[in-house]
Amino acid sequence: MRLLLLFLFLVLSCRGNCKRDSLNFTSIFSFGDSYADTGNLVVLATPVWKDVWVAMPPYGETFFHHPTGRWSDGRLVLDFLAQKFSLPLVPPYLAHNSSFKQGANFAVSGATALDFSFFVNNNLSNPFMFNSSLSIQLGWFADLKPSLCKSYEECQEYVSTSLFILGEFGVNDYSFMKFGGKTLEQVYGYVPMVIEKISAAAESLIKQGAKTVVIPGILPDGCIPANLVQNTSRPKEDYEPETGCLKDLNDLSRHHNSELLKAVKQLQQKNSHVRLIYADYYHAVMNIIRTPHHFGFIDTPLRACCGNASNQYNVNQTKACAMPGVGSCENPLEYVNWDGVHLTEAAYHHIAEGWLRGPYAVPPILSSVDN
Ligand SMILES: *[C@@H]1O[C@H](CO)[C@@H](O)[C@H](O)[C@H]1NC(C)=O
Ligand SMILES: *[C@@H]1O[C@H](CO)[C@@H](O)[C@H](O)[C@H]1NC(C)=O
Ligand SMILES: *[C@@H]1O[C@H](CO)[C@@H](O)[C@H](O)[C@H]1NC(C)=O
Ligand SMILES: *[C@@H]1O[C@H](CO)[C@@H](O)[C@H](O)[C@H]1NC(C)=O
Ligand SMILES: *[C@@H]1O[C@H](CO)[C@@H](O)[C@H](O)[C@H]1NC(C)=O
Ligand SMILES: *[C@@H]1O[C@H](CO)[C@@H](O)[C@H](O)[C@H]1NC(C)=O
Ligand SMILES: *[C@@H]1O[C@H](CO)[C@@H](O)[C@H](O)[C@H]1NC(C)=O
Repeated sequence: MRLLLLFLFLVLSCRGNCKRDSLNFTSIFSFGDSYADTGNLVVLATPVWKDVWVAMPPYGETFFHHPTGRWSDGRLVLDFLAQKFSLPLVPPYLAHNSSFKQGANFAVSGATALDFSFFVNNNLSNPFMFNSSLSIQLGWFADLKPSLCKSYEECQEYVSTSLFILGEFGVNDYSFMKFGGKTLEQVYGYVPMVIEKISAAAESLIKQGAKTVVIPGILPDGCIPANLVQNTSRPKEDYEPETGCLKDLNDLSRHHNSELLKAVKQLQQKNSHVRLIYADYYHAVMNIIRTPHHFGFIDTPLRACCGNASNQYNVNQTKACAMPGVGSCENPLEYVNWDGVHLTEAAYHHIAEGWLRGPYAVPPILSSVDN
């Protein structure tokens, strides 16, 4: 009996929309920050920063063999998803350098969920911020749409066969608050605002006809080497014994993620015709860090590949990846962390597989697909 019900459920849940929502996405639109940026920051920063390190070698060395504006040695999760669906690697919107018929990437490194004005008004902005938060990125999508589809109906149809990746957002909001002097306790108070902003963005995409929206949570911020070198005089009990990551920052990441998952479930209940997918960076990264050798990585997963520092993390803010005299490790394939903040292509590949097939997405992106 139970088996029959399960079978009926599978049949019914596929009827009508399995084909449509299947592997046959006709385009990908991405919003986010440096974990998804494929070249937008370089366009914004080149005229105003003295040096844009992400535009210099060894960024890109493994896959592209030249820098592309991605904060990695190669492909990001977004790139692996595009390849899986046989679509072009999603072109950066601000480069205005390609057709966007099959997708556009609006992600900008440093982008926040909350508006830029929030940070300016609260004296939390800094010279590394651009006015490129989530609502601005949604505005760029609105600007682009008339070139992709014409009538309301045509646009709803066009959008319904697109894959939307909304994030991750949040980690920069919390970082800028901390840099601006907010305590961690104060930062917790802003989590509902951040979640609400992401949730509202998903709702806007659904109104526009989106049928598949992937909403990623944030990475374990306490395992980011750049955060681990900030204060070297913290007591031993501040670190997770198993991983060496910072407990308080990981707690905040998990709190954000569980609130985001709740919001995604609520949106799913209100919009049963849409596939909303919560994608889990956190556990994907944590599981690698717990047993790196199991996934083919070196057993010091908190050590950055690209850098030149005398500490165990190989991170020095004044001698960061791509700065003069700072090179990368022999074999990036064996490293989890690339530059002290962002991950290697090898790590992103593993995460992408977990989003596509599980266990790192609910439901897995490929799950309701007839294959
Ligand atoms: C995939 O989508 C394209 C464009 O909508 C359509 O022409 C094609 O027939 C679809 N292919 C399959 C196998 O559904
Ligand atoms: C634009 O595309 C050309 C040719 O593919 C490439 O050489 C150039 O670097 C691109 N520019 C940007 C800003 O991406
Ligand atoms: C950010 O850009 C938007 C759109 O151009 C503009 O309306 C807004 O005032 C800008 N915000 C700040 C703080 O400059
Ligand atoms: C804004 O922040 C800066 C640096 O954190 C501080 O020096 C300044 O006094 C603050 N200004 C206000 C109006 O709070
Ligand atoms: C570093 O951590 C110690 C112990 O928690 C604390 O007393 C100190 O204020 C911290 N230093 C900075 C610069 O945050
Ligand atoms: C970081 O770089 C600075 C300047 O090159 C150097 O003085 C310092 O010792 C370095 N720190 C570490 C931990 O490597
Ligand atoms: C680190 O920097 C120093 C000084 O610039 C250089 O001599 C050394 O070769 C560098 N090491 C690595 C691993 O890049």
